[in-house]
Amino acid sequence: MKVSFLAPFLASLAAGVPTPPKNDVVSYDGYKVLRINTHGHPSTIREELSGITYEQWNRDVYKHLDILLSPDQVATVEALDLEYQVMHENLGESIAAESTSRSVWKREVGDLSWYDSYHDYQDHIQYFEDLQKSFPNNSELISSGTSYEGRNIYGLHLWGAGGPGKPAVLYHGNVHAREWITSPVVEYITLQLVTGYNNGDAQTRSFLDKYDFYIVPIVNPDGFAYSHTTDRLWRKNRQPPPKNGNQSCFGRDINRNWEFAWDANPLGASTNPCSQSYKGEAPSDAPETQGLDKLVRQLRDGAGIKLYIDWHSYGQYILSPFGYKETLYAPELGKWTKAAGIVSETIRDSSDARTTFTFGPSGATLYPTTGAAPDHVYSIGRAEFSYTIELRDTGKFGFVLPPELIRPTAEEQWEGQKALLSLLDEEFFDGEGPA
Ligand code: ARG
Ligand code: ZN
Repeated sequence: MKVSFLAPFLASLAAGVPTPPKNDVVSYDGYKVLRINTHGHPSTIREELSGITYEQWNRDVYKHLDILLSPDQVATVEALDLEYQVMHENLGESIAAESTSRSVWKREVGDLSWYDSYHDYQDHIQYFEDLQKSFPNNSELISSGTSYEGRNIYGLHLWGAGGPGKPAVLYHGNVHAREWITSPVVEYITLQLVTGYNNGDAQTRSFLDKYDFYIVPIVNPDGFAYSHTTDRLWRKNRQPPPKNGNQSCFGRDINRNWEFAWDANPLGASTNPCSQSYKGEAPSDAPETQGLDKLVRQLRDGAGIKLYIDWHSYGQYILSPFGYKETLYAPELGKWTKAAGIVSETIRDSSDARTTFTFGPSGATLYPTTGAAPDHVYSIGRAEFSYTIELRDTGKFGFVLPPELIRPTAEEQWEGQKALLSLLDEEFFDGEGPA
């Protein structure tokens, strides 16, 4: 009895690669997610919660703390004298609802019911292959490397008149596995570019005639697959921990692993392999980061990078460098802030929900991050514009955003991108005229 229980564990040790139990789906049944009002005093609230075990979902804690509680912690927190809203009454049920709402997508590029539910990794690959086939003369499937578990980090390269070779627009989706809304948003923008071009839409054509698009909807495929099969709240990649540490904690945070300023600020990432923002043992020691960085450098050394966007959720932010130090402002910050403001306004005015995006330099606006992609793609990749966009929502559902909100979220981002892509080459600081 004892031997057979231990055998798989010993086998995995022998192989040198610890593996978590197979088919052991993490259950969030009875787990609650609460948004606790901090009234500008997060440390007071943290003290009140000091005896409680919880996982924190947000880091913008000035107004509220979003926390995940296991069933045995719920009563204790409810008994405290705190002001809160319930984000998920039963997270297990919210996750179940999310996956039962499978829509009747017909596996046709133009069928928008793709955006009525979430899809697994294989279907996402197929979706991009189909998109490529619908744009045969102006696109190619590309690879931005291979994940730790050997998955292809696939993407699409699109171009317009005169063939490829223009400055690049690079999009990265789903670096954080649980941020499921990001890949359909990136796919929707790709679909609009392809169909708009095919239909002769003048504005879309102007984008593709000016820029080459490199679109990678799932840059963390192992984490993404794992968030479907095993743990809906998985964030990092699936790399094993360093040999000398705790062998049960997997994953590096790819968005803390980039080379530029990797070690510049102790507040920017974690050195603990069990942390959600574990930076790795050395810069770019995650295979995903290596593959992504290789394409960044290729684009830099080619026609250059005009725009980079790393898509995340949640919080509704548009953030530019620098992330690694909240007091450091790049010379281009004025231009980036102006552009982000225009995008924010465009999104708000286009959406029924009047979705509001906060914008500014990322370290100061949100919190410091070291080894994050936008700093690297700006500093090393020399991107002219480089942003993180944190999609919906601001804390009603957080990472588990209901499928009905995929379409409105994607549509407003396409409006935002049209505004942004239109202004990249404009001189939008004009010395003339009245205020
Ligand atoms: N939520 C994302 C992350 O934790 C984006 C961070 C945005 N950048 C920043 N400096 N706060 O990686
Ligand atoms: Zn993220």
